[in-house]
Amino acid sequence: MALQKKIACIGAGYVGGPTMAVIAKKCPDCLITIVDINQERIKSWNSETLPVYEPGLNEIVKEVRGKNLFFSTEVEKAVLENDILFIAVNTPTKDYGVGKNMAADLQYWEIIARQIRKVAQSDKIIVEKSTLPVKTAEAMETILNTGSTIHFEVLSNPEFLAEGSAIRDLLEPDRVLIGSRETASGQKARNELVEIYRAWVPEDKIITTNTFSSELSKLVSNAFLAQRVSSINAISAVCEATGADVHEVAKAVGADSRIGNKFLNASVGFGGSCFRKDIYNLVYICRMYHLPEIATYFENIINLNNYQQQRFVDNVIKSMFNTVAGRKICIFGCAFKANTNDVRDSPALTVARTLMSEKANLVISDPKALENMKSELGDPKNVQFIEDPYQAAKDSHAILIITEWELYGKLDYQTLYDSMIKPAYLFDGRNIINRKSCYDIGFNVYSIGKESLIH
Ligand code: UDX
Repeated sequence: MALQKKIACIGAGYVGGPTMAVIAKKCPDCLITIVDINQERIKSWNSETLPVYEPGLNEIVKEVRGKNLFFSTEVEKAVLENDILFIAVNTPTKDYGVGKNMAADLQYWEIIARQIRKVAQSDKIIVEKSTLPVKTAEAMETILNTGSTIHFEVLSNPEFLAEGSAIRDLLEPDRVLIGSRETASGQKARNELVEIYRAWVPEDKIITTNTFSSELSKLVSNAFLAQRVSSINAISAVCEATGADVHEVAKAVGADSRIGNKFLNASVGFGGSCFRKDIYNLVYICRMYHLPEIATYFENIINLNNYQQQRFVDNVIKSMFNTVAGRKICIFGCAFKANTNDVRDSPALTVARTLMSEKANLVISDPKALENMKSELGDPKNVQFIEDPYQAAKDSHAILIITEWELYGKLDYQTLYDSMIKPAYLFDGRNIINRKSCYDIGFNVYSIGKESLIH
């Protein structure tokens, strides 16, 4: 019988919770404790309403909680009693000092490393789950091992799950990546981690590399994904100028199996908590290693994304005769993508803030993200938050679709049109509506990467 592995995860957030729940389900031999200093969050993980919404997560947590998965606030006890420690704390971008707005802020990581060192009384394997700059594992090993009689081995095991599909991504990952040192102790630790994942992940999907490659691969994966979106968004501007159609171009280009057809949906721009942060992290690393040309190359992915968001909202203003002051404008969707309530770095923020500075009266609608949007914008005057799209659009001059919620593709646009001020404008930032029929109803229709349909 396999020896029971004793695992703790520090950080009960978006990555730690779902990842450990899946490991607990697939490895009944592992005893797992997730710890966090945030009492509210732990209370919520122990309740009927989990702090993270992900399809399938509830069921798994119910199945394993109290059996081989536990949630607690006792961080030191968890460090003392467990042999494998996953670290899944957040690593925000620095908002002060050297590397401001670009480098990762590693202070939480360092505090944890020092705490582990202070408390531990036996050898530990530390697993980096958080996305971190290249060489963090090495730095942590130095902090942990210098002058210590205990041995700490740090592995890199980045998480690739996307919001809204976290459980599926964990159960059927494209790959699991494990980076370690090439020393005997590094390999031994790596094999322990491989053994855990082998319980459900096919051997050929478990990639082992050196630590630096693993850390860098996570940043590069997100940079390449974001780059595809920025590339197709760049082409959307060319399409609008030339009369080409971005859908047709994406289809023709994506049919080449070397390029592939995924992640080629032109949009108002990408958002979310990862892309911008990870690309800046990569850019900062390039600058640190005196590679300014490479830094500029990757930074342009973000510049293009900023341009695309601004281009969209500037087009709204321009199309409405350069005046939106005092006019009611309705925003459909403020989550950074469909099926999440997350508004972090959402294009809706750029659009809303620009229109607010133009003194428009905004009505923001969304099926899940209104509360988060309200706290992000600070609930200002001249902005209303209304979930029902028909009520939200009533008496408005324009509808702007920012999030690709399925709901917005299925609305009765005739009813919406009838309730709006004329001429009625429709700006589709996700290309989800039937533009021809909306034009026939009477809307002036503006899409991304397609010719506008104007009466
Ligand atoms: C991303 C990565 O996909 C994931 O592997 C990593 O672990 C975390 O970062 P996430 O931020 O949850 O996941 O969302 P994702 O589905 O990748 O979408 C990111 C943004 O790109 C969204 O705003 C989305 O709307 C936008 N997008 C995506 C497009 O505009 N067009 C596309 O074709 C695809």
